[in-house]
Formats: sequence, structure tokens, C-alpha cells
Amino acid sequence: PETITVQELANRMAERGVEVVKTLMKLGVMATINQTIDADTAELVIEEFGHKIKRVTAADVEIGMRGEDDEEGSLKPRPPVVTIMGHVDHGKTSLLDALRSTDVAGREAGGITQHIGAYQVTVESGDKVTFIDTPGHAAFTEMRSRGANVTDIVILVVAADDGIMEQTVEAINHAKAAEVPIIVAINKIDRPDSDPNRVKTELLQHELVVEDMGGDILAIEVSAKERTNLDKLIEAILLQSELLELGANPDRAAQGVVIEAKLERGRGPVATVLVQRGTLKIGDIFVSGSEWGRVRAMINEHGKSIEEAGPALPVEVLGLNGAPLAGDDFIVVEHEARAREIAEFRGQTKREKEMAASGRGTLEQMLDKI
Ligand code: GTP
Ligand code: MG
Repeated sequence: PETITVQELANRMAERGVEVVKTLMKLGVMATINQTIDADTAELVIEEFGHKIKRVTAADVEIGMRGEDDEEGSLKPRPPVVTIMGHVDHGKTSLLDALRSTDVAGREAGGITQHIGAYQVTVESGDKVTFIDTPGHAAFTEMRSRGANVTDIVILVVAADDGIMEQTVEAINHAKAAEVPIIVAINKIDRPDSDPNRVKTELLQHELVVEDMGGDILAIEVSAKERTNLDKLIEAILLQSELLELGANPDRAAQGVVIEAKLERGRGPVATVLVQRGTLKIGDIFVSGSEWGRVRAMINEHGKSIEEAGPALPVEVLGLNGAPLAGDDFIVVEHEARAREIAEFRGQTKREKEMAASGRGTLEQMLDKI
């Protein structure tokens, strides 16, 4: 239940604490200045003082900071965000590396690569595709459980010499639960013992019917090692992405999601943020989970410092006051006071939840958490 301390209530009404205590006594409630009262009692007190009541819930704060949804007309096409998933050793990383080496922009930048958990590739046609490199399914599940639907398309990597395995099934289930379209990349077709048809048949058991079998699932036979059919895979991604008609409004304050965050010696907290709508700029003030900050610098996947980041662009952001968690939101707000207020509010809500989860909690535990 929502509660407030007598002191805090007095502060918010700009009344003296003793007066609030007196009013409470009149209402039959004995409370000292440091005690908490529930929201209903607080409302009675506020009425007694003749003030207006404005209850702010966590939901109000969330909605208020996210702002209006974008109107249809403000949406501009944006690149797809693609997550690569599959069983251990089926070649996810190899495929990502192979796709990444097709990056036109990367070549122009002199091949400087930097691992930031997510990166955007400019393909031959000039189209852009954003890939997310989630280290295993745990991260994907974590993000989804925290309400962050980051991906538009899942590429399911299945080794043609191994077929559908436990984690392949997990990946299929994740994608289905998130209602994200799947493109199958049947990998390692260079292997003499590879059997792509067996993979296609096995997929049927999971209600994934590939095109050759009369279904609508795009399945591309590739070899990350020999770089076979990478162009076809990219084509499939672009085709699927076209069907999704992905759009975002770039002309608003930025909102996005944290892909990963860490503390780096000499740089402080660094977060890889995927911008989902709006354009993130140097100097922007933001809230991310229960942290906040001001964008001091942004670095793209080529290690280059950039001034602005629009929809579907992943960037490393410097200027956080603390490290948020993967899956946390990232929302630009108007001014610092607002950012502090929201971060504090969220931090407090989080602590309360943790306290509730851990039972009554001793004073030491409480001090520990603050
Ligand atoms: P985890 O991250 O451990 O789950 O593995 P992964 O799915 O990222 O697989 P990774 O890319 O590390 O590849 C696993 C092994 O398969 C490596 O030894 C790769 O060299 C090999 N491999 C990947 N793709 C191919 C391919 O197309 N052909 C052949 N022959 N080997 C491949
Ligand atoms: Mg890997």
C-alpha cells in the first residue's frame, strides 16, 4: 500500500509538521513526525488543510515521462532490429562476424571493430540492419521479462549437421512468446555431414513450415565459414522487415532501451543504448531504470564519437551517474530536477519491493540497501 511520512506530507503541503500531527490527532490518529501513514489518511489530512489532492502513482510517473504515442504521420522508416539466437556452437557468433564483415560503413571506417553488444550494418544496397548480440538466451529472457521488446526479427541459427537441439527449441519458444517473426539460417552447409532437409522437417514439429514445404517461414542455407548465401540471408531480413513496415518518429526526445551496461575504469558507467524513437543528442538529460545522467559522449560501433543517434541505432552512452541494468528503459526528460525525481522515486519503489520480498527486514538490512 502507498504510504507517506508525516514529515513528507507536511513538506508537500508546505505546512508545519506539528500542525499535521495535531490534525491527525483530531482525526483520531496518533502519529509522530517520523511515522508513516497510509494514503487514505493522508487524503483526509490534506482535505482538513483545504489543499487539493493529487495522488501520483508509479504508473502516472511512467506514463508522464514517456509522453504521447507518436502519430502515424510522424513515423519515418527505420532499420530492423535483428537478434541472432540458436543452440550452443551452431555458429551464431561466426554468422554475426560474417554478416558484420559485409558492412560497407565498417570498411569505410578502416575496419575498426569494437564490441558493444549491438551494432548497425550498412548492406550493399545501402539499407541498414541493426544486430543485437545477446550473450545467450538468459539476456533475451531477462529483457523480455522486464517488458523490453527490443527485437523485430529473430534469426534462428540451426547447424545443418546437428539439427534442432534443446536451445533451438527454447529460442523458438522465446520468439513465439514475443510474437517476433523468425528467419531460419541453416548453417554449416559446407560440412559433408550436413542435412538441411532434415532441419526443415524437424522445424515442422515446432509449427515452423518453411517456404519449400508450402509455409511462410524463410529459411536460408548458409555457411558462415565459407560465407555462402550471406546475401540471401540479408535479402530475407530486408524482405521480412519490409513486411513489418517499421517506423519511428525521429523528431522527438529520445527513448530507448539498455542492451548492456558496465562500469569502466576511467570512463565511469557506460551503457549501450538502442534508441527506439526520437533522436538522442549530446547534452540530453535522461533517466534509465533508477539511474539518471546527461549524455556526455556517444560512441558508435566503429569507435567513432557521434553527436546524434536516431531510431534503431545502438550507441555507447557516457555520462550516467550509475550503471543501469540490461533491459532498463532510457528516457530523455526535460530537466535535471525531473530526472533526479524520477530516478529517486524508482529507486525507492525498487527498495520497497526488495524489502517486501525479503520479509520484514532488520534495520541493518534496511541500512544496507539504502
Ligand atoms: P556459442 O556462442 O558457444 O553458443 O556458439 P556459437 O553459436 O556462437 O558458435 P560459434 O560461432 O562460436 O561456432 C562454433 C563452431 O562452429 C566454431 O568452431 C566455428 O568455427 C564453427 N562454425 C561456425 N559456422 C560454421 C560453418 O558455417 N561451417 C563450419 N564448418 N563450421 C562453422
Ligand atoms: Mg557465440
